[in-house]
Amino acid sequence: MRPWWEVGVLYQIYPRSFQDSNGDGIGDLAGISARLDYLVDLGIDALWISPIFPSPMADFGYDVADYCDVDPRFGTLADLDRLIEAAHARGLRVLLDLVPNHSSDQHPWFVESRSSRTNPRRDWYIWRDPAPGGGPPNNWISDFGGPAWDYDEATGQYYSHAFLKEQPDFNWRNPALRAAMMDVLRFWFDRGVDGFRIDVLWHMVKAADFRDNPVNPAYSPEMGDMHRVLQTHSTDQPEVHAIAAEMRAIAEANGGRLLIGEIYLPVDRLMAYYGTADAPGVQLPFNFQLIDAPWRADALAEIVRSYEAALPPGGWPNWVLGNHDRPRIATRVGEAQARVAAMLLLTLRGTPTLYYGDEIGIADVVVPAAQVKDPRELREPGLGLGRDPVRTPMAWDAGPHGGFSDGEPWLPLHDDAAIRNVAKQAADPAAMLPLYRDLLALRRTHGALATGDIADITGTDDILSYARTENGECLLIALNLSGGERRFVLPDNMEHPRLLLSTVPDWRRGDEDGDGRTILLAPDEGVILLNE
Ligand code: NOJ
Repeated sequence: MRPWWEVGVLYQIYPRSFQDSNGDGIGDLAGISARLDYLVDLGIDALWISPIFPSPMADFGYDVADYCDVDPRFGTLADLDRLIEAAHARGLRVLLDLVPNHSSDQHPWFVESRSSRTNPRRDWYIWRDPAPGGGPPNNWISDFGGPAWDYDEATGQYYSHAFLKEQPDFNWRNPALRAAMMDVLRFWFDRGVDGFRIDVLWHMVKAADFRDNPVNPAYSPEMGDMHRVLQTHSTDQPEVHAIAAEMRAIAEANGGRLLIGEIYLPVDRLMAYYGTADAPGVQLPFNFQLIDAPWRADALAEIVRSYEAALPPGGWPNWVLGNHDRPRIATRVGEAQARVAAMLLLTLRGTPTLYYGDEIGIADVVVPAAQVKDPRELREPGLGLGRDPVRTPMAWDAGPHGGFSDGEPWLPLHDDAAIRNVAKQAADPAAMLPLYRDLLALRRTHGALATGDIADITGTDDILSYARTENGECLLIALNLSGGERRFVLPDNMEHPRLLLSTVPDWRRGDEDGDGRTILLAPDEGVILLNE
């Protein structure tokens, strides 16, 4: 029997923006509970909720002040228990977001750690003396720009922070810290959580000697300050794999819970996060390649082929099209190609992760300067690095604020929310939402799409095509990545093709060469064919 997460589809919820239940303009857990039936109808299998723990919200929850409770803005522990129970009753799994690289500077552990050099928790975080002659201990740069070090006047040392200074880095070389964080996993597993997405897993361990990072020869200012140096010594250290393996052992001891690692690394280094047969790592090291991929058939074919070839024995693939940190797919490739992208995501081999709102085609929202909330944008404005545009509220209906909240939403909705919303799209067969539903339904009725092998990955003449096969069933996917018509010659093994789904449902197709071996794809059309 395959584990559920190999067969199923994940759906990321950014909780501030999914559904508000109390009119404060911020989404919450009771709101998510109220929308579970929508998620069941959509056809997903598990939701991953970005952090809901008590937090000063310097980085909107990725600065955790208590790992074992719920922030009042999102509700209570009881609300979370109810959400998990209601999700399970509907056959949905619930994943939380574990943030183990850093806590909030308001976490009691850090308050103790900074209180004196001799405090027992001093070593739970990374403290270093100033460089000889003064200044930060080395040249490491925060991912949000500026030095990755902040000076503590009272104790005369610097602490490391890969992100904001309000997010001090844990010292994972300290056994007591390590044990305390492992208890956090157990706490949530005991409450019924089905797994975790692990924030910046590759950042967790830093080189023991804190060597300077090499200067990045390709740096230019519009890339953002963090790219001045290569993160050679501040990330992806070999010791991280034993930590992932310990987390995995806890996940397995609790009946096979799921761990997903957030890791932005080249494929060859990403693969190490699957671990080894003796020390398995996370089941799914997130594969973000589609987010940055050039939208071309040849480039995408090469990405799929090389990723498949790089997987370790038994390693299960996964694909991601968007998340709360990166531009939305509708903005990256346009609405017509976003439909093709949906077909790609949901027909490749491997577990797909959907990002809330992509199923109705929300694009990046222009957030006026005065309304900007994201510290990433506030620290390096104007470079397009801010993440508010991709974190805007979901639109459910044509009512005030798209049915998201009775109050003023924390971020503005997309301009076309009155027509781009769940209720409207559910009633419009040509809209994005029915396409997502159809694709998700097809994965359930055609096992080959969910778990079958992938073969014949080809990218020529603007068409990306591949076959999915399982137990004698064979499906062919052909995606026209261009805005023009394209002729697609069926491979010989597609003897009796039947069209199961098209992203351009009203396209009138002829028999191009008279013998049924060539089909004319509409501009921006993707098709799924079944060999009957
Ligand atoms: C990655 C998260 O996805 C991002 O939103 C956050 O700002 C950083 N990690 C820091 O936790």
